[in-house]
Amino acid sequence: MAMGRAHWGSRLGFVMAAAGSAVGLGNLWKFPYITWENNGGAFVLVYLAAVFVLGLPIMIAEILVGRRAQLSAVPAFEALAGGGARGRAWSSVGWIGVVAGAVILSYYMVIAGWSLWSFHNCVVWSFTEYDARSLDFDGFLKDGVLQVILTAAFSLMTTAIVMRGIGGGIERATRIMMPVLAVIMLYLVGTALTMDGRDAALVKLFVPRFSELPPQGVLLAVGQAFFSLSLGLGAMIAYGSYISKQESIVRSALWVVILDTLFALLAAVAMFTIIFSVPGLQDRVSGSTVGMLFITLPDLFYTQMPGGAVLAPLFFVLVAFAALSSTISLGEVVTSLMIDRRGWSRRKAAVVCSCAVFAGSVLAALSVGAVEPLSTMEIFPGKAGLFSTLDHLAANYLLPIGGLGTTVFVGWFLGRPALLEELGLKRGTPAFFVLLWILRVVAPLAILALLTAVLAGWDFS
Ligand code: TRP
Repeated sequence: MAMGRAHWGSRLGFVMAAAGSAVGLGNLWKFPYITWENNGGAFVLVYLAAVFVLGLPIMIAEILVGRRAQLSAVPAFEALAGGGARGRAWSSVGWIGVVAGAVILSYYMVIAGWSLWSFHNCVVWSFTEYDARSLDFDGFLKDGVLQVILTAAFSLMTTAIVMRGIGGGIERATRIMMPVLAVIMLYLVGTALTMDGRDAALVKLFVPRFSELPPQGVLLAVGQAFFSLSLGLGAMIAYGSYISKQESIVRSALWVVILDTLFALLAAVAMFTIIFSVPGLQDRVSGSTVGMLFITLPDLFYTQMPGGAVLAPLFFVLVAFAALSSTISLGEVVTSLMIDRRGWSRRKAAVVCSCAVFAGSVLAALSVGAVEPLSTMEIFPGKAGLFSTLDHLAANYLLPIGGLGTTVFVGWFLGRPALLEELGLKRGTPAFFVLLWILRVVAPLAILALLTAVLAGWDFS
């Protein structure tokens, strides 16, 4: 097997790169807004349960598959299942992931492009004067040309880095960006917590009221856990194939999960506090929840924060970087398949895959407001527009199904000796017992029950 496969350059390399993949728009953009739409508290609790009961074990399983096989998802399943017909059957789990990756990438690029737009706005505000009314978010959504340009810019940046490969691009970039983003986030939250909407925000976020959780909130919370942790499509399998044998998979996974969750919670605390503190903001945000990140934070930077005029543009650059380290990991899934499978050069694989995804991105970019049938089509009730349709399909169906495949494979088919060896655990230790049975029974049943409930028409609308 690939003896000479490159490995992350340092102990922290894997955790940083994987956290770079996990922390992204899922945390800064999506978590706060769907938490808002699902009324906070109870949703957050279900989300946390999903992260620790399903997310952590499945993250361990994915990294393990990658390191064991030293291959990306599709060939990894094929090889570990022993090749032949059985190998081909299992590799379909990897294929679902590749499809999910391309789908997510196509619409993710659109929001990533918005961070460039916000950066531009902040530069203008910093040099002139902040004026909340000049932020015409609806007009922005309807500007198809601008949407496509921003998306294209982001696609180019992603392609340029994926082309250079790990170590060169991914690892070096995330090592610098992640800590800076964390520091600014902490400062943001610290400032937000001095505002008078603080108590209302904390109650909304952390006091669970299950009567306020919409039934489909459970599905959305589980989907969000997969999405935010970069699970279910083989991203962590691809990254895991580069983790060195000396490193502890469990400890690395735990770090990634904790960091990712902290980023999501901090972002939500900051945004909710601003919303409850600034008069009129609740209405504006409710009118376009999807723009929450881009509507609320400038307010905080420019009206509350000492040094905000400097930090605001910097913050949105970092949002762009956080998005970039995620698009890179998604791009890597699709690209590394072509490299391992077809023997393409990295350069060719990256360019061809990016072009294919970009076609979808253009449609997604036009579907947030500019082009009629694209922005109004409705396959899933309540999820109008191609953009929301792709997001719903990928996050809430494809990712959990991919995760289901992985957990069943690792729990039942990989074999205990391989598991014990990769985990560095001894047979009979409680940790191993718990993990094994979560992978074998708890996780598969939870995902199956959820999907069955949805398909059986449990009222999710
Ligand atoms: N986790 C990233 C975020 O929260 C998005 C992402 C990157 C992702 N790679 C992934 C989601 C792989 C699922 C699978 O923004």
